[in-house]
Amino acid sequence: MKNSSTQAAKRDSFASSFGVLVAMAGSAVGLGNLWRFPYLVGENGGAAFILIYLGFVVLAGLPVMLAEFIIGRRSQSSARSAFQKLAPGSHWGIVGVLGVICCVFIISFYSVVGGWCTEYLFKAVRFDFTDGSPESLKTMFSSFSTSTWLPIINHTVFLVLTAGVVIAGVQNGIEKFSKVMMPLLFLIIIGIAVRSMTLPGSGPGISFLFRPDWSKVTSQTFLAALGQAFFSLSLGSCMVVTYASYVKKDAKIISLSTQTAAADTVFAILAGCAIMPAVFAFGISPGEGPDLVFVTLPHIFSQMPVGGVIAILFFLALLLAALTSSISMLEVIVAFCIEEFKMKRKVAVALVFFFIWVLGCLCSLSMGPLSSWKVLGKNIFDLFDFISADFLMLIGGLLIVVFAGWKLGKKVVFDEVTNGGTHHVPAWLLKTMLFLIRYVAPAALLAIAIFQIHE
Ligand code: PHE
Repeated sequence: MKNSSTQAAKRDSFASSFGVLVAMAGSAVGLGNLWRFPYLVGENGGAAFILIYLGFVVLAGLPVMLAEFIIGRRSQSSARSAFQKLAPGSHWGIVGVLGVICCVFIISFYSVVGGWCTEYLFKAVRFDFTDGSPESLKTMFSSFSTSTWLPIINHTVFLVLTAGVVIAGVQNGIEKFSKVMMPLLFLIIIGIAVRSMTLPGSGPGISFLFRPDWSKVTSQTFLAALGQAFFSLSLGSCMVVTYASYVKKDAKIISLSTQTAAADTVFAILAGCAIMPAVFAFGISPGEGPDLVFVTLPHIFSQMPVGGVIAILFFLALLLAALTSSISMLEVIVAFCIEEFKMKRKVAVALVFFFIWVLGCLCSLSMGPLSSWKVLGKNIFDLFDFISADFLMLIGGLLIVVFAGWKLGKKVVFDEVTNGGTHHVPAWLLKTMLFLIRYVAPAALLAIAIFQIHE
C-alpha cells in the first residue's frame, strides 16, 4: 500500500485539458492520416470509403475511445496494471499486455516510415524533386527504401527524436511538444489544402472526395475502413488508456474523447483535400497505393507553382505528425516498464529504444536485403503492420469495450464520465453511450472479424 501511494504521488500528469487534447490528437493524427488514409481513399472509391469510415468512427471508434478513457483515468495506471487494478484477481491484465505488444509492433515499422519522412524532408530542402519524372522519382524511392544503411540511419534519427521527447516526461516532454506542434501541423495542412484545391483542374479530385461511388465498395472496403479508423484513432493499443491515466479527475472525458476523434477525422479529411485535388489536377490515378506520398506527391510538387516550398512544408508536416504519434506509442511501452518493473524513466526509455531500434532495423531491411524472409507470405514490415492494425488493435478494441461495458458495468462507467456525479451529463447521452459501448461497438467488431475469417 505504502509503495503504491508513493508511486501515485510521483506520477506525472497533464497540466491542462488543452494539453490532454493536443497530446491525444497528436497521437491520433499521424502517418495514418497523411499516408494511409489518402491512399486507402484512392484505392477504395473515394467518398464511399470516407462515409463508411465516418460510420465506423462514430459506431465503433468513439465507444472504444471512451472505454479506454474510462479505464485509464479511473485506474491512473499504465496498460496492464490499469485492468488489474480495476478487476483484481482476474486475467484482464492480458488486454493491457496485448496493447503494449501492439505498440511494439507498430512503432517498429512506424519509425522506419518516420525515417523515410526525415530523408524526404531533407531531399525537399535540397530541392531534389525538381524536374523529377514519375519514373525517376519511383527509382529514387525504391532505391532508397530498399538500400541497407540510409533508411537505418534515418530510422535511428527518428527514434532518437521520439525518445528525446519521451525522456522529458509527460508534462515537460509530450505535453509541451504537442502544444507547439499540433497547431503548426493544422496550419500547414490547411495551407496545402487551399493550394491544392485552387489548382486548375482540381474539380474532379474534390468530387472524388465528396461524391460517393458505391460500385467500388466490397466487403474488403468495410474491413479497410474499420482497420483504418482504429489505426488512425490509436485505439485498441492501450494508448488512450495510458494517456488517460495522466488526466486529472476533474477533466470531462466525454468531451475530450469526442474532440479527439473529431480533430483526427477533420485532419484526415484535410489531408484528403491536400492530396486528391492535386493528384487529379495532374492527371494521376488516385489508386497509387503506399507509394502515393513518396512518389506521386514529389512528382506533383515538381510540377506545381511554388511546389518546392509546398514539398518542404508537406514533409515537415508528415514528420511532425509521425513524431507526435510515435512518442505516444513509446510512452505506452515505457510507462509499462516503469510501473511493472519499477524502472527509472531514463533506463526504461534507453532499454525500449534499443529493443525497438533492432526490430525497426529488421523491418527496414525487409524492404531490401531481407526481402526473402517471409511469414504468411509477407515480409517483416508488412507482417508487423498486419498483426497490429488488422488483428491486435481490433481484438484489443473488442476486449476493451467488453471490459468497460460488462465487467466494470453501468455504475462505474456513469460514475467516471460524470466525475463522481459532480459533472452533469444528460441522461439520454449516458444511455446512448452505454448502448454503444455494450452492444454496437462489440457487434461491429465481431461482424468484421467473422467476415474476415469467412473471406
Ligand atoms: N494514430 C496513429 C496514426 O494515425 C498511429 C498510432 C497507432 C499511434 C496506435 C499510437 C498508437 O498514425
